[in-house]
Amino acid sequence: MAKPVSDSHSNREAVQATNDDASASKLSCVKKGYMKDDYVHLFVRRPVRRSPIINRGYFARWAALRKLLNQFLDTEKNGGEKGNLKKQVLSLGAGFDTTYFQLQDEGRAPHLYVELDFKEVTSKKTTLIETCNHLRDKIGATASISQEKGEVLSDHYKLLPIDLRNIQQLDDVIALAGMDRRYVLTVNFLPLLFI
Ligand SMILES: C[S@@+](CC[C@H](N)C(=O)[O-])C[C@H]1O[C@@H](n2cnc3c(N)ncnc32)[C@H](O)[C@@H]1O
Repeated sequence: MAKPVSDSHSNREAVQATNDDASASKLSCVKKGYMKDDYVHLFVRRPVRRSPIINRGYFARWAALRKLLNQFLDTEKNGGEKGNLKKQVLSLGAGFDTTYFQLQDEGRAPHLYVELDFKEVTSKKTTLIETCNHLRDKIGATASISQEKGEVLSDHYKLLPIDLRNIQQLDDVIALAGMDRRYVLTVNFLPLLFI
């Protein structure tokens, strides 16, 4: 069995705080018109105005990631059969990222989108998804949502708590998310994208 991962409470909090920082920076970018994100404001309690260099840095990161994601989502089978590939996205340390909700709006969401983060983070995100109709509507009426477990399980979207340093736990969570392990274990075999 894998050994439990030890870390100080303050280290863990500091790592999780990078998520609040990222969300606030994204909102700053959105407000300045660098990019569109109709959901990030729901995750930011104290909006801040970042300096132009930070806004541009975040925009560059967002644009690069979006380009990769779109390339992945646009990939067809060798024979060009569109729609047959059941694509999966696995977001490690997803934080309050809103990409899944944006992809839903764009009609481009993959077959399965799985987000993993510490329980403290997934619990807050779960609460927001459950209480905000804008978000809840995007995951489907039959979704099971547990604020206590910090978990959202719907047909095409899963949000699950984990400490990513625990490989056994990662294995269990991938199974719980219903990911096709053939693709998880053979990364160069489409269609799985890690972000
Ligand atoms: C800088 S934030 C990025 C959030 C999101 N991916 C984005 O682009 O906005 C990093 C995230 O990774 C998570 N994280 C870091 N180490 C982790 C670990 N060992 N297990 C689970 N989550 C972790 C943090 O809690 C945080 O939410």
